[in-house]
Amino acid sequence: MRYLTAGESHGKQQTTIIEGLPARMPITPNDINDSLLRRQKGHGRGKRMQIEKDLVDVVGGVRHGYTLGSPIALVVHNDDFKHWIDVMGEDPVSEDQNIRRVVTRPRPGHADLNGALKYGHRDMRNILERSSARETTARVAAGAVAKTLLKHLDINIVGYVKEIAGIKAEEKPELSIDDKIRISEESTVRCLDEAVGQQMMDAIDQAKKDGDSIGGVCEVAIEGLPAGIGSYVQYDRKLDGRIAGAVQSINAFKGVEFGIGFEAARKNGSEVHDEILWSEERGYYRRTNRLGGFEGGMTTGMPVIVKGVMKPIPTLYKPLQSVDIETKEPFNASIERSDSCAVPAAAVVMEHVVAFEIAKAILEQFPNDQFPKLKETIDGYREEIRCF
Ligand SMILES: Cc1cc2nc3c(=O)[nH]c(=O)nc-3n(C[C@H](O)[C@H](O)[C@H](O)COP(=O)(O)O)c2cc1C
Repeated sequence: MRYLTAGESHGKQQTTIIEGLPARMPITPNDINDSLLRRQKGHGRGKRMQIEKDLVDVVGGVRHGYTLGSPIALVVHNDDFKHWIDVMGEDPVSEDQNIRRVVTRPRPGHADLNGALKYGHRDMRNILERSSARETTARVAAGAVAKTLLKHLDINIVGYVKEIAGIKAEEKPELSIDDKIRISEESTVRCLDEAVGQQMMDAIDQAKKDGDSIGGVCEVAIEGLPAGIGSYVQYDRKLDGRIAGAVQSINAFKGVEFGIGFEAARKNGSEVHDEILWSEERGYYRRTNRLGGFEGGMTTGMPVIVKGVMKPIPTLYKPLQSVDIETKEPFNASIERSDSCAVPAAAVVMEHVVAFEIAKAILEQFPNDQFPKLKETIDGYREEIRCF
């Protein structure tokens, strides 16, 4: 299974095409819209989220509530495009820089300058429109299709916020995945620890007042995966490596950890590895899950726990210094509409990019053109290995 996305931030639409999904899998637009609406929520999101409510238009691959086995094409229209036709339309326009809203001042922390140098653009709108995190709308739509496949295979996934601006949520090992889904949904900062949720909101408000931005840490948990998904036999078949690459590719993500992650560097082996146990009733199991559900690039049958670090958003109302590429004069970087903190939304994006990698690995391992047969195969595999 693979997908591509296309579309500019203020262009007509975000588009994604997903290929490789089996036929006869139940899916409705609501499965995708739920995810899109979740991406738009969160304390600290700017005006654009109020202007637009993202809704999917399913334009290929689904009929009467089921996948057809053909490519799935999804479109999210930009309601605001009517105000951007002159700036973003495909037809030639006058050279008037105001009409085209030309950008010649690269913003530090964005793709602006590197992209302009690479592609030879003098108007950096040609870069920022595509490098903007608006593209994650299409990635969430693709991930929502993957999540639907996982749901039908009894695999559940949720993303939430662990930390914002140094304010850390406590571990909540007692929570089931259903609890995590419910509590994170109820929290405007998508945090499982209600005690620190308010502090996180205050930090976001303060950053906004200061014209600054703040980052944080998101976590994704997946339950219901049998052991042995992924492979150790080739570097590009290691599922933890693929997930790490996908998470790192989200705009503003700067690092990835599984389980105790970087803490492992400071511990002895006896404090890191998860001992193997067996019981007639459960089959193989582990008492601990310090390695976050992976050994040798394959799932262990324990929950997958992966964290991603998001840097503070680079567009600041208190702008950083930059240099105009036409005049070479120092300038304060121009402001496109911007949030002060997007960590809660990023947790939703991360959940969806991880879902896609997992669904993709499952389909690679158990190829099947028909969803009911895929389900039968996975259920049979679970019975056979007795490790989940
Ligand atoms: C959900 C989400 C929302 C974002 N919103 C903004 C934003 O409003 N303003 C901004 O400057 N950057 C925002 N970013 C981050 C930038 O898109 C990102 O930092 C930029 O494209 C440069 O890429 P890099 O940080 O991965 O190098 C957002 C990222 C995500 C995941």
